[in-house]
Order: sequence, then C-alpha cells, then structure tokens
Amino acid sequence: MKAFYVTTPIYYVNDAPHIGHAYTTTAGDVLTRWHRQRGEAVWFLTGTDEHGQKVMRTAEANGVEPQVWADKLVDNAWLPVLDTIDARNDDFIRTTQPRHMERVQRFLARLKDEGHIYEGKYEGPYCVGCEEFKLEGDLVEVDGAKCCPVHGRPVETVSEVNWFFRLSAYTDALIAHYEAHPEAVRPQSAYNEVMSFLRQGLQDLSISRSTFDWGIEVPWDPSQVVYVWFDALLNYATAVGLDDPAGSEGAAKFAATWPADVHLVGKDILRFHAVIWPAMLMAGGVALPKCVFAHGWLLVGGEKMSKSKLTGIAPAQIIDHFGSDAFRYYFLRAITFGADGSFSWEDMSARYTAELANGLGNLASRAAAMVGKYSGGVLAAHHDYTTADHVIIDGLATAAARADACMLDLDFAGGIAAVKEFVDAVNLYVTEQEPWKVAKDEAAMPRVETILYVICEALRGIAVLYNAVMPKAMGELWAQLGAEASLGGLDGQDVRDAGTWGQLPAGSVITKGAVLFPRLEDVA
Ligand code: ME8
Ligand code: MG
Repeated sequence: MKAFYVTTPIYYVNDAPHIGHAYTTTAGDVLTRWHRQRGEAVWFLTGTDEHGQKVMRTAEANGVEPQVWADKLVDNAWLPVLDTIDARNDDFIRTTQPRHMERVQRFLARLKDEGHIYEGKYEGPYCVGCEEFKLEGDLVEVDGAKCCPVHGRPVETVSEVNWFFRLSAYTDALIAHYEAHPEAVRPQSAYNEVMSFLRQGLQDLSISRSTFDWGIEVPWDPSQVVYVWFDALLNYATAVGLDDPAGSEGAAKFAATWPADVHLVGKDILRFHAVIWPAMLMAGGVALPKCVFAHGWLLVGGEKMSKSKLTGIAPAQIIDHFGSDAFRYYFLRAITFGADGSFSWEDMSARYTAELANGLGNLASRAAAMVGKYSGGVLAAHHDYTTADHVIIDGLATAAARADACMLDLDFAGGIAAVKEFVDAVNLYVTEQEPWKVAKDEAAMPRVETILYVICEALRGIAVLYNAVMPKAMGELWAQLGAEASLGGLDGQDVRDAGTWGQLPAGSVITKGAVLFPRLEDVA
C-alpha cells in the first residue's frame, strides 16, 4: 500500500523557529495523525534547509562555520520544537546530510546528461532573504533603493556565469497539468496565482552560484555550488530514495511513498513549489506531487511574522502557558486553513477558557464525578433511549462524518468545529437532563444510568475525534473513561467508526484523573 505522504517546508536555520513554522508542522501533524487513525500507511517528513547565503551570512555574523551554526540550531531549536508542539514526524531531513547531497548530485548530473541544463550568464537582482532571483517589476523603492517587497531590504546584483535549467520549456506543460488537475494547487486563490504567473511565460532559471561555496558542489563543475532552492526542493524526493537503483532499500521506499500527497507550504513559497518543483520533476521524468497546499500567514501588526524581521513569537512562549494541545487546537480552529490570521493572547485565552476548560474539560470532569457518585465509578448499562438521547446518538454520527470529510479536505477549522459543536450539544444535554435532580428519586436510577451512559459514550467518540488535534488531553480522557481495557489504545481507534454508537461497554471503570485543561488562573 502506498503511504499517504505529507511534507512541510524544510526551514532555514538562520534562526530558531517561531509560531509560523510551528503552524505548518502542526497542520501536517494533525493531518497525518488523522490519516493514521483511518488505518492508512502514512509518512510525515519535515526538516531543515541549511545551505545558501542567508544561512552562511548568519553563521559568519556569529563567527562560526556554517555547519557548526546549522548543527547548533538544529540540536538546540529545530529538533526540540517538534517535542514542544508534540509532532510525530517519521523522518527529519537536513540538506547537509550525505543521503541528500549525494542524491541531489546524481539527479542533477542526470538532468545535465539529458540536456536540461546549459551554461549561461546571469545578471539581475537577488534577495538573500528570499534566496530568490527577482524581476525588476517585482521590486519596490524604499528611500531610493530597489528593495525586495517581502523583506523591505535592498536587493543585490548578481552577475555570474552559471548553469541554467530550461524552465521556460515547461510553461505549456504546467498549464496543461493544472488545467487537468485543479486540485493540485490549493486553495483556489493559490491556484489562480500560479495560473496567472504561468500564463506570463517562464524564464530559464540559474541553478548554480560561483561567488560563495556554502552549498552542494555541482558534480561536473567544482567551481559552482547548487542554487539553494534547487537543492532544497529535492529534499522531498531524496528523503525517500530518489533515483536509487532497482532492488535497493531506497527504491522500495520510493515506490511505497512517492508521489507526495500533500506538500504543505506557506504562501510565501508557493511559486517555488507549484512552478519550479514540478518542472524539475517533469524534466527528470518523476511523478508530480498530488497537491501543494499554500496556507496563509500568521501576521504581526498586519505583516507576516518573520525571522528576518525579528517579529517571531517562540512556540514555547505560548505552550508553556497553554500547553501543546491548546496551541494545536487554537491555531487550526481560529484560522481558516489557507487564510491569514493574527495571534492575540486575548483571543486565545478566551477560546481556551470557553471551549476547552469550561466546554470540554468541564464535561469530562462532571461525567467522572457523576459516575463516581451515582454508580460507584463503574459505568452501568443504559436502558431505553429517549428522544433527547437519540439527538446525541445521531449527533455523534453526524459530527464524525463531518469531521472526517473536513479533515480529508484540509479544512481543519471545519473538522474541529464539527466536534466542538457536538461537545456543546452534550453539555446542553447534561444541563437539560439534570441527572443530579433525577437521582433524588431512588426509583429513577435506571434513567440516571442511561444519561450517564450517553455522556460517557459521547466522550468516547469525542476522544477519538479530537485525538489528532489534542493527543495529550485525549489520551488522558481515554484513561479516565477506562476505555483501553475493552477497546485498546486510543491511537488505534479508527476515526471512520468513531460515530458508531455503543462501543464503550458497561462495566468500564471511570476515574477522575488530572484536569484536562486547567484554568488559566491556576497555571499562570
Ligand atoms: O522558505 N505564517 O524556509 P523558511 C505562517 N527554506 N507560516 C509561516 C510564517 C508565518 N508568518 N513564517 C514562516 C524557507 N512560516 C525555505 C523552504 S522548502 C523546499 C524550502 C512557515 O524558514 C511557512 O510554512 O523561510 C513558510 O512557507 C515557511 O515557514 C518558510 O520557512
Ligand atoms: Mg522565509
């Protein structure tokens, strides 16, 4: 079975990660956890982009060799942040690893042999912040200097004899491909941007540099290093064995993984992924990715949060306070995937308190308290269901179906809303059924048992559906429901069956464990 293969960009190690990088990786992690919980084989790749002038100059400014700088940043910042946000990636690629460098050289040599690369002279503006050759028309004037519109800093002029990739040859093929596969660039705004860019026609691309040496050596010309984007884009394929010989482990991995199902990227790097990358693959005769999804930006004061501009918020600043589950929940729930959004401490606190602490957390602790009080901590069997019970039973089925459809479509906000609305419905059910009042009449105990069963079984479904988003808290909830004894581990619960009613058996031992989402006054 081919794995569902998801990638994040490989991030520049010019500085430590901020919540923008954590956002993309979190989205990939939620998406892949969801697919794993559908019983699919999954491969989730992330990593770091370590070559190029941006990283080289940062290392120089810090007085160390680029490799030393990269090692330090990876060990102290980029790997630890994966734990901080609770990401479960299958692999982590660094572009300075031999496995990557060797495969890039081999692929490049093949493209050269097959006539896709020629020598030429490049002259034009370059932005080191973007690591991108710019067109004059892209630039903006700031105090008389021609500046990159993204970084707001003057561009540099490159004038070199370089190796060129025949990108222009792919204009028509790319347009035809995207006309036949409108789902290959998402959301629609990104698709439109790529199509209008392609319709202007493409120019050939300089894919090597000769004025510095921090990069992969061009295999037939040691005076040049590979252009950092040509090197970086290949990571998605080198990590899974691009062009490895038939019969090798790498070839088997490639067959089991390629093409990527989703390349998740920010919209800043859409063109690299939806124009240059597929053209490189077409030249090499390699299958094209099924989808590039360009999400929006986290903004600070209306501008993209950025390492270069030092406007980044470290993920730990938020996670130390709210926890990784709330971080994952908030960013995917509050911002439509594909649109820009700004982080505000107030909005996050408000949602945390209303939706997690008071909404879901309170429901779980009331359920455990009531089963403790009215049936000695052991879930009793239900009796006949009323109309109100059926609203919850049907509500879970609807929420599960909706959540699955949304998650498969990368509509994380929609998927979370489906479950959140079900949580609200269960809370309303508790308020209306008032089991504590019903319990005053000894003869009505069967009704109390049914109400408690409905609540606990609803929580069973919620734990399964929210596990991809909030794995720590849902693991705790699963333990409190005593579900593992009868149903097995939470990660093994198929989300497609989450809406099937009646899985948590009578006799389950319900315990009041740790508070799922502590009140902020208590954690501050
Ligand atoms: O571009 N909002 O690396 P990079 C949302 N190395 N997402 C953001 C963000 C923000 N404010 N800031 C960064 C590179 N990101 C290249 C990629 S891939 C072959 C090479 C996220 O360190 C988002 O995913 O600049 C964006 O595309 C990526 O980080 C850029 O990271
Ligand atoms: Mg960037």
